[in-house]
Parts: sequence; structure tokens; C-alpha cells
Amino acid sequence: MPVTVRAFAKINIGLRIGAVREDGFHELLTVYQTIGLHDLLRVEVRRGQGIEIHCANPGVPRDESNTCFRVVEQAMDALRAKGKVNIDIEKRLPVQGGLGGASANAVAVLVALELALKKPLPAGEKLRIAAEVGSDLPLFLLGGTVLGVGRGEQVYPLQDLPSIPCVIVTPDAGVSTPKAFAEWDRRHSGEGSKLTLPTASDRMSGLSCALSAWLSKAYSGAPPGFRSRRGRAENPLLELVRAGIENDFEQVVFPEYPKLREGKRALEHAGAKYASLSGSGSTLYGLFASPEAAARGAARLRRQGWAAQTTITLPRRAYWRKFLVSSS
Ligand code: C5P
Repeated sequence: MPVTVRAFAKINIGLRIGAVREDGFHELLTVYQTIGLHDLLRVEVRRGQGIEIHCANPGVPRDESNTCFRVVEQAMDALRAKGKVNIDIEKRLPVQGGLGGASANAVAVLVALELALKKPLPAGEKLRIAAEVGSDLPLFLLGGTVLGVGRGEQVYPLQDLPSIPCVIVTPDAGVSTPKAFAEWDRRHSGEGSKLTLPTASDRMSGLSCALSAWLSKAYSGAPPGFRSRRGRAENPLLELVRAGIENDFEQVVFPEYPKLREGKRALEHAGAKYASLSGSGSTLYGLFASPEAAARGAARLRRQGWAAQTTITLPRRAYWRKFLVSSS
């Protein structure tokens, strides 16, 4: 029985890059948030063996380098299952876009495979497989608002927040994440930089304090939509970004791709309450106060020549409710 699922994208709301670890990865602190934009994946297990990936987008690899491939290999082993796995990807998300498209695809395939085989894997086992294949896979096993630590693969579900309208701008550029990390290291390993730049751990604790203060408020029993200083109820995500959180990747990606800095400014001018690069880019997003403001903002951006689309942040319950399209 083929199983069709939606692989929703994520944005990063704040991202701090910390020290380089012994394994070469960087310590990371971020808040992931799933959004409504998605790819569609159809997974089918037939008689035979092997893995076949079909996708009309030439930017999507069809061999072992595709994260779906590696996840299926591990999942079939863990499930002690046999068969030929066919995966059809209808690509709608940008490739190398900072929205976690490839990782979302891999996790969607993992869950679809369990459904197709009618064999569930323990949650811990799925998280292990996801983390082994890539740092930003595990978040998609939770969905909603997710705290990411370690190299980004250690994930903790945060309180489900009401959705907020956003506008996604996808400039025509693919940013390589390993290259962005390498550029970060180059800039932060110089002799003098140690004197002028805050140390990695100071910078991490800055975001960690902002997050902690926000979380303690969120868990204090205040109803969703805290009171702002002006007394109006406000979406908690807007409260979080008001704490001044940033995505460190902007420091290395914007100088190399000035168009992306322009995109962030254009989002701000189009009415975004907060605009940022997602992951290492090239996607930019803006959070808006209302669906009308988001629609107006996106229209204005499109008139200026930006590829802009509106969506909403996707809380955990909606993420799972909309995940399965069909299983026959
Ligand atoms: O884990 P993932 O495969 O997504 O990582 C891709 C590359 O990004 C890694 O090989 C590494 O170079 C870099 N990376 C890193 N620190 C992280 C996550 C990724 O240096 N926390």
C-alpha cells in the first residue's frame, strides 16, 4: 500500500554557533519552528530489494547521498524488513534553502515506511537513526516549536504556540552549510578576534538566558498571547524575538550574498515584526502580526521582484494532523 505524507519545512528562530567540538561539529543552540510549506512524498514497499528515488527536480540526488536513502537503509535494518522501497518526491521546497527540506523528506520517509510496513519503531530508535543521518533531522520527529542543542540533533519539544503568519522569501541562491560553518571558523579563529569578540560560551549563554526567561514566562500559567507592554495580547513567538535574538549565520552569509541582506531589509520594510535568515540560508522569513499584513507584505515583495509566499507557523498538533495525506 503506498503511503503519501507531507514533509513540512522548518525555520530557525535564533541560532547561536558555539565552539568546535572534537568531532568537528559546532555546538549549536537554536529554536526550530515547523511551518506550513511542504514537499509531498509517496512511499511504497514492493517485493524485491533496493531503494529507488524519483524526483523531477534535478537538484535532488537519487543515490546514496540523498538523506532519504540513508534513513531507509537504517530503518529497514532496524525493522528487520525486506522489500524494494520506492520513494516519489514532489519537490516544492527550495533545495539547500535553510528550510531543512532534505531532512524533512528523510523523516517523512521514515514515518511513512513504518505506516507502509505496519511496523512501528520505538521513538528512541527513530531519534537515533535521524540524529545519525543529520543534525536537523530529529526536530522533524517532534514538529512544532523545538529547542535544539548539541550539534542541533538533541531536541526538546517546547510548549505548542498559536500559529503566526509568516512570509518566506526564497532568493535564487543555494548556500552550503559546511562552507558557512568553515567561514564562521575562519573569522573567529584569528589571533585578535579572541580579544574583541565575546567567547563562544558567552555568546551561547546570551541566547540561553533570553530563551530561559521566555520559557519561564510561557510556563508560568500566563495564557497564550502574553500581555505586551502596551497591554495587548501578543503572540509568544513575537515576545521571543523581541528579546533580540539573532541567527549567527547572517554574519558570514550576508557579506558573501549581499542580496540576502537586502531581502531581510525588504521583509522589514514590507511590515515584518521580525525578519531573519533561516539556518544557513538562503531562505529568509518574516513574522507578521496578522494574515492580512502578511498577504500585503508578500504582494509588495513580489512587486519588487522577490519570490515571496505566505504561510503560517505550524504547531505540533497541526503538524501531525496534516502529516498523513493517504495510506492506500
Ligand atoms: O549534520 P549535517 O549532515 O546536517 O551537517 C552537515 C555539515 O555541517 C557537517 O558535516 C559539518 O561540517 C557542519 N555542521 C557543523 N556543526 C553542526 C552541524 C553541522 O559543523 N552543529
